[in-house]
Amino acid sequence: MLLAHAAAVKVYKDKYQSSQQGKIRITLICHWIVPYSNQTADKKAAKRAIDFMFGWFMDPLNYGNYPHSMHLLFGNRLPNFTFEQSMLMKGSLDFLGLNYYTANYAADIPVANILNVSYATNPQRLICIMISINHLDYFLPIYVCCSTWLSVYPRGIHNILLYIKRKYNNPLIYITKNGFSEVNNSALQIKEALKGPMRIDYHYRHLLFLQLAIKDGVNVKGYFTWSLLDNYE
Ligand SMILES: *[C@@H]1O[C@H](CO)[C@@H](O)[C@H](O)[C@H]1NC(C)=O
Ligand SMILES: *[C@@H]1O[C@H](CO)[C@@H](O)[C@H](O)[C@H]1NC(C)=O
Ligand SMILES: *[C@@H]1O[C@H](CO)[C@@H](O)[C@H](O)[C@H]1NC(C)=O
Ligand SMILES: *[C@@H]1O[C@H](CO)[C@@H](O)[C@H](O)[C@H]1NC(C)=O
Repeated sequence: MLLAHAAAVKVYKDKYQSSQQGKIRITLICHWIVPYSNQTADKKAAKRAIDFMFGWFMDPLNYGNYPHSMHLLFGNRLPNFTFEQSMLMKGSLDFLGLNYYTANYAADIPVANILNVSYATNPQRLICIMISINHLDYFLPIYVCCSTWLSVYPRGIHNILLYIKRKYNNPLIYITKNGFSEVNNSALQIKEALKGPMRIDYHYRHLLFLQLAIKDGVNVKGYFTWSLLDNYE
């Protein structure tokens, strides 16, 4: 996917960008990850979790290679890029589209035997990202309101934006999706359902933290809500 993206960007930049004056990007999703405790191992687990969810793509696009933590844990299971591939990927975005919805805890949990090695097992409850040294990172919701996977954590949008600014040299960012899904509550009259007070609250709080991030120097130029039409994708 990364190589396909980089190849498409090259075609666009070589052939169309100067006449169209367009900008080209990739959209990535990242949850904010909170360490489950203040223990160093859990703090490291949180950093790892962001690498595995976001750095997996963002590092190659900025630095031409997967995050160090992934190389460390996957060893030879992680393919190497050639020099040409690295160069093609590096800088292959004019701006970043970021989808942010929620946050998770990460804890470092040693496990004796992992039978099934995979990137992720049962993403709703357990994301197994530690493979070679017999660890699991365990994700817990911060507080669940609507969809089971979506815990509302507004300050997470500030945290992830500041993280991206620091780690990836302050790129131009558009929030390409922020919002939440609701349970299908047939007891609710349509008139009531359309009021959406929880959704209003969700956006209000996230926009406050987004504003704070902009004040802190994050280069955000746009914000798109999660809408009905998105899910025709
Ligand atoms: C970790 O430490 C910070 C700062 O001392 C504190 O605010 C926070 O509540 C602590 N978190 C946990 C999970 O103990
Ligand atoms: C990737 O490159 C490193 C360093 O040259 C090497 O040790 C490793 O075996 C390579 N991995 C694969 C999957 O070829
Ligand atoms: C591991 O994989 C096997 C074969 O796909 C499957 O039958 C088994 O249920 C899996 N075990 C766990 C713990 O996921
Ligand atoms: C929502 O629930 C109602 C009543 O159970 C059902 O008729 C309807 O098909 C559901 N809608 C969706 C989008 O699942």
